[in-house]
Amino acid sequence: MLKGKNIIVGITGGIAAYKTASLVRLFVKAGASVQVIMTPNAREFITPVTLSTLSGKPVISEFFTANTGQWNSHVDLGLWADAMVIAPATASTIAKMAHGVADNMLVTTYLSAKAPVFVAPAMDLDMFKHPTTTHNLELLRSYGNHIIEPAAGELASHLIGKGRMEEPEKIFEVLNRFFEQGQDLAGKKIMITAGPTYEKIDPVRFIGNFSSGKMGFALAEECAARGAEVTLIAGPVALKTSSPAINRIDVMSAQEMHDAAIKEFEKSDVAILCAAVADYAVENAVDHKIKREKDEIPVIRLKKNPDIARAIGEMKRPDQVTIGFALETDNEIENAIGKCQRKNLDFIVLNSLQNKNAGFQVDTNVITIITSDGKKMEYPCKPKTEVAKDIINVLAKDYLKGMA
Ligand code: C5P
Repeated sequence: MLKGKNIIVGITGGIAAYKTASLVRLFVKAGASVQVIMTPNAREFITPVTLSTLSGKPVISEFFTANTGQWNSHVDLGLWADAMVIAPATASTIAKMAHGVADNMLVTTYLSAKAPVFVAPAMDLDMFKHPTTTHNLELLRSYGNHIIEPAAGELASHLIGKGRMEEPEKIFEVLNRFFEQGQDLAGKKIMITAGPTYEKIDPVRFIGNFSSGKMGFALAEECAARGAEVTLIAGPVALKTSSPAINRIDVMSAQEMHDAAIKEFEKSDVAILCAAVADYAVENAVDHKIKREKDEIPVIRLKKNPDIARAIGEMKRPDQVTIGFALETDNEIENAIGKCQRKNLDFIVLNSLQNKNAGFQVDTNVITIITSDGKKMEYPCKPKTEVAKDIINVLAKDYLKGMA
């Protein structure tokens, strides 16, 4: 899978740098072109001659090549790369990447790179556990970078714990797999609803809910990264999309979301209904601000909103796949299967309400996937970006394989 790929291997100043020579060798043997960029401290741990010999290209460390008047273009390098791997990534480089401190060639190139970036941290266990490192890695994840978690074991300090850079063979495998499944949604059109809906009471007030949209946006980025053309119908959220393959339609109310979804579903292969749609709209909404009356308490009358998932389910052709979400408190499985049938869904993603790291607002989620024929798949607590991968893996393997 790596044949013909251009890979930047970034090496920073940690003892695990000696292992990166093997990683470069593995990439080259697989037919990839490798450009090594070392931070100045990395050169203390392993000689550039080793890496330039293995990669067949001079190692880059500085912005300028001494006494030649030449400079190394981070922009060109960023455009050249199909992937960037930073191994080992020290706490310092992780912090610089998280905050855009572009004071060396490696971080500057990282900021220019459009390709997927893989980060393999390596440091002592206490540095790895420090809240600063945890937070910075979370930031890198939220920017769409792939973190290759360090392994636990004996560290160079002789202490035992988590912080050893993952073995070169494993890092190689992560990239291989990434490119293998890389474009498994190419040619597919996927519609995703996300976020809450706001139901107007008057021009300044609404009924809403706590949905942040994070799960739906993570799904949109994952589908786009795997080659799909995505239409993201988003309720009012404070999130940005980064992939150019996402066509975003912003809506406010359930009715607006419904209308956009019905229009888009016609042209879609898959619909993922992730939005927390308000069940009711305000029947007696007014177009002037409701004044506070002395004696009278206003009454808000509600009317039913359309069930978007159900409407989509009724339109669904045999060549289309639909996925729903559910938050259940009791009889989770029976309710989920019932919902799959009523809404004609292929599978439903159950969010746990029992777990404080799942559901609305938080960056992590705990899910169970339940298929319309009653199959149940449970997953541990993961960042929503990883949960999105799990969901899309099921879609790609069990529902889209073999579909024209
Ligand atoms: O029936 P319930 O609201 O629990 O179903 C949840 C699923 O249905 C979610 O996939 C949600 O996005 C979708 N839904 C919808 N339109 C509604 C209510 C729910 O699309 N009005």
